[in-house]
Amino acid sequence: MAFQERVFSGVQPTGNLHLGNYLGAIKRFVELQDRYDCLYCVVDLHAITVWQDPAELPRATREVTAAFIACGIDPTKHIIFNQSQVAEHAELAWVFNCVARLGWLNRMTQFKEKAGKDRENASVGLYAYPTLMAADILIYRATHVPVGEDQKQHLELSRDIAQKFNNDFRHAIREHGYGDGFFPLPEPLITGEATRVMSLRDGTRKMSKSEPSDYSRINLTDDADAIAQKIRKAKTDPEPLPSEEAGLKLRPEADNLVGIYAALADTTRAGVLGQFGNAQFSTFKSALVDLSVAKLGPIGAEMKRLLRDPVGIDSILAEGSARAQKLAGETMKAVKDIVGFVRS
Ligand code: TYM
Repeated sequence: MAFQERVFSGVQPTGNLHLGNYLGAIKRFVELQDRYDCLYCVVDLHAITVWQDPAELPRATREVTAAFIACGIDPTKHIIFNQSQVAEHAELAWVFNCVARLGWLNRMTQFKEKAGKDRENASVGLYAYPTLMAADILIYRATHVPVGEDQKQHLELSRDIAQKFNNDFRHAIREHGYGDGFFPLPEPLITGEATRVMSLRDGTRKMSKSEPSDYSRINLTDDADAIAQKIRKAKTDPEPLPSEEAGLKLRPEADNLVGIYAALADTTRAGVLGQFGNAQFSTFKSALVDLSVAKLGPIGAEMKRLLRDPVGIDSILAEGSARAQKLAGETMKAVKDIVGFVRS
């Protein structure tokens, strides 16, 4: 069955947005706007799978919204909204909790990492997180999902859930006129040179919001001085840059910085090495500081400007949520019919 092409992706409002979120996700959300109808969601229901201060969550939600807009997503052409305003996400997630198998969730590496040793004390929500993620995507029957590399396994689970739902309910799906399958199998879009941006302090660890050292990441709201300091302090090795991509293989820090440069400059690692091959890190880092400040400075400034008007941001979220809810409501009605829930 052919599904209308549609893009969905989400970002959690949990602390500072960083360069990994930008290069791995938001920058690519922007690029997809010309080709697809897109929904971009601030996933506040996901955020509370670990404790969030209720006094802080609204600010974080508005910050992600401001980042979407400052990076270039157009909320008049596409839908920007926050998850908790569209109740159908949670409703469909419950149905998916009954479709997904424990064994599938037990394999999720992100849960293992986030729950750590104290698994008994992790929230049930953290464990069920991927079924809500599948519901986010499938409540819009979205076909394409741009994400960073770390979300790949969750996307595979979403496909498994869609497939099992289509199979378990195949007779009802056909009876209600939806042909061979009700949900598309959503395709991950994990492309470009920065699908996994690494920590500036350790090229073997992912850049993340939860890393204690702020020097490990560049935040989207960092000013030029902070960006320059963090890049100058970034860990490197003693060799000059290689002139071929193969030379990055066993050099995680060099690989990371070259990848960041390539993604910011919209080129490839090979292209960057064509320019900086055999250069010392001091030279390359200066160029990377200039490029980063040129690309990220205007985004940070625009975010700060937008955040001075929280009412304006909230009205964008309200309008986006209303538009999203219309689409989600249609899907949920059909799901109720398929599953066999009596509805009026
Ligand atoms: P979150 O909020 O952790 O991250 C948002 C996006 O940023 C990407 N990302 C990275 N990309 C490259 N390098 C990094 N170091 C890096 N760190 C983060 C993530 O891959 C993600 O694309 N579960 C999701 C949010 C979500 C979602 C969805 C995504 C909820 N529902 C439905 C897609 C579809 C998450 O926690 O992202």
